[in-house]
Amino acid sequence: MKIITIVGARPQFIKAAAISREIEKYSDIEEIIVHTGQHYDKNMSEIFFEEMKIPRPKYNLGINSLSHGAMTGRMLEKIEEIILDEKPDFVVVFGDTNSTLAGALAAKKLHVKIAHVEAGLRSLNMKMPEEVNRILTDRISDILFCPTDKAVENLNSEGFRNFETRIVKSGDVMQDTAMFYSKFAKKPEFEISEKYILATIHRAENTDVPERLKSIFSAFKEISKTIDIVLPLHPRTKKIIENLGLKTHGIKIVDPVSYLEVVYLLKNANLVMTDSGGVQKEAFFFQKPCVTLRDETEWVELIENGYNLIVGANSQKIISASLEMLNKEIDYSRNLYGGGTAAEKIVKELLK
Ligand code: UD1
Ligand code: UDP
Repeated sequence: MKIITIVGARPQFIKAAAISREIEKYSDIEEIIVHTGQHYDKNMSEIFFEEMKIPRPKYNLGINSLSHGAMTGRMLEKIEEIILDEKPDFVVVFGDTNSTLAGALAAKKLHVKIAHVEAGLRSLNMKMPEEVNRILTDRISDILFCPTDKAVENLNSEGFRNFETRIVKSGDVMQDTAMFYSKFAKKPEFEISEKYILATIHRAENTDVPERLKSIFSAFKEISKTIDIVLPLHPRTKKIIENLGLKTHGIKIVDPVSYLEVVYLLKNANLVMTDSGGVQKEAFFFQKPCVTLRDETEWVELIENGYNLIVGANSQKIISASLEMLNKEIDYSRNLYGGGTAAEKIVKELLK
């Protein structure tokens, strides 16, 4: 069997790592990795392949830093050429980025089967580019690998049972990755206090609305008077902060870190504050409370079970949520994401 996996953005390397590790166990599966080039800085791309020993992409399309239409369109055109040349049995796509949608659309028009890993998630906010990407990708996929019960429920309520698709609850490949690489956690070279909050910010809904971004950073500055905030900064946010002239004094801003470094930072943090999808779950995997700086989340089970507080971008709410979560005793014994067996289930299903 020949599989093309499409990656492009940071979280996809981390998800694909789990699938590639599983595929390596099968001599009868050939995996061809296509990197769209959506992320391209060394510490947004290359470092993950190097450090996590992910097989090298056979193709890197070098498509990035464009508007949504231009980026998705150029990816679509190039991926189509590759699918025509390689003639895979399956195209595997991950998550909800522009690379995901481009890969799925190219495959569908060529009648190649699509497996969508991390299917069925919904924020119910159609203004998010991710929501559009994931809904369209789900609709044209042949196998929908859902990480959670809620994801399966979402697909059922949208009538997916009436479509010619297989819905499989696989669990979450990000948990597979977290469990495997946990023992390789690497201390970053910068100085870290004994107590600190790990924060990340990059989602368009925050970065592209100056009022929200200002409000979040004003909360960070206030909180960092009492506890350090370590903020590995996504290049998108870095550029916008510089353009806005936002003051960030007191916040420990560092370049994006590698996955093994993020695992170290997660393991040793007292709290996580983020608008990332992946980091919300990783806080749970490493048993850390989380405050989510968005108005909604796809990972509702974290909210329902008290692992995560969702507060949006209001300064006062962020400050009081951080205090509440820093002092909360939490039982992490629930198995919400499958316990690290997602990739095994996914690859077995592809072989059926
Ligand atoms: C993308 C995904 C988002 C995901 C995120 C993961 C879409 C629509 N969005 O957002 O869902 O959460 O990846 O991190 O696909 N840039 C660099 N260097 C890089 C990468 C990006 O400088 O290596 C800068 C460029 O100026 C670029 C901007 O960041 O224009 C935004 O990058 P882009 O890939 O368009 O979106 P992300 O914000 O990274
Ligand atoms: N991550 C990383 N280095 C960082 C920040 C995040 O390796 O400096 C990892 C993080 O641990 C998670 C993934 O990147 O596995 C999530 O990506 P991101 O937050 O960019 O995107 P999202 O999950 O929101 O789509």
